[in-house]
Amino acid sequence: MTAMATSLRPDTGSRKGAAVTFDGAAVRLRGRTIWSDVSLTVAEAAFVAVLGPNGAGKSTLIKAILGLLPLAAGTASVLGRQPGVAKGRIGYLPQRHGFDSGTRIRGVDLVQLGLDGTRWGIPLPGSPSRKRDAARVAEVIELVGATTYARRPIGELSGGEQQRLLIAQALVRRPRLLLLDEPLDSLDLPNQAAVAALVRRICEEEQVAVLLVAHDINPIIGYLDRVIYLAGGGAIEGAPEEVITSETLSRLYGAPIEVLHASDSRLVVVGQPEAPFVHGDRHA
Ligand SMILES: Nc1ncnc2c1ncn2[C@@H]1O[C@H](COP(=O)(O)OP(=O)(O)OP(=O)(O)O)[C@@H](O)[C@H]1O
Ligand SMILES: [Mg+2]
Repeated sequence: MTAMATSLRPDTGSRKGAAVTFDGAAVRLRGRTIWSDVSLTVAEAAFVAVLGPNGAGKSTLIKAILGLLPLAAGTASVLGRQPGVAKGRIGYLPQRHGFDSGTRIRGVDLVQLGLDGTRWGIPLPGSPSRKRDAARVAEVIELVGATTYARRPIGELSGGEQQRLLIAQALVRRPRLLLLDEPLDSLDLPNQAAVAALVRRICEEEQVAVLLVAHDINPIIGYLDRVIYLAGGGAIEGAPEEVITSETLSRLYGAPIEVLHASDSRLVVVGQPEAPFVHGDRHA
């Protein structure tokens, strides 16, 4: 299958001041090209979904933005610097499964760790910086709507409650870019939509660009600015209604793909080996 990447509307995220730009980028792992010729721009404070089937290289894209994986070709700029340089201004939620039910750490401590994790020493109790930290921790917990359960052990919370606290942890240091790898995994549809609404609000209130890896666009489509769709060794970036079309996806996959509009207005993608839009938990 030929690799390709196209930015369908490259003018919307001007390169100057963009959160992320990739130009002709490729990643190779153990001698295998995961994707190549990827060019895309993520504008400041934009909410972008990263879509595509299992193994397409979505987590690889997130790791390349973090500078954890080197590019084999092309160039990338992340918050105006080489990937890896501006790490302190990026919030990252890795792809994961929930906490063990025996996990005793409280939500509020988990969020606090997002502040302490990068520091030399922890401020003394009662010090002004400790008070500022506590205020910021309370602020992000409030922002994600977790105030009522943040003092309970995290292992006792539901998957959706845990995800909100993990998003709060990734946000607590006021990042300019938030990378969320499948934060909706294991959430029911109403909770997926609620977290997407929350992320939309975070983009606006905290002026942070968000890349959110997801498998089902339907619960989140109304909140998104753009999508990056990875498949067939390439990527396409654009507005959701431009990318999720039979023509564009067929071009990307190099195979006939049909995008169906169900009567409940859901989009269903058929024809690829694994349909990422069909509901059901592939991790189950
Ligand atoms: N460290 C590694 N070494 C070699 N190959 C790897 C490594 N990490 C990932 N891969 C391969 O790269 C490809 C892309 O993996 P990646 O995790 O980015 O996919 P993904 O789109 O995030 O999939 P999923 O939806 O299952 O999370 C896969 O074929 C995977 O096996
Ligand atoms: Mg992944």
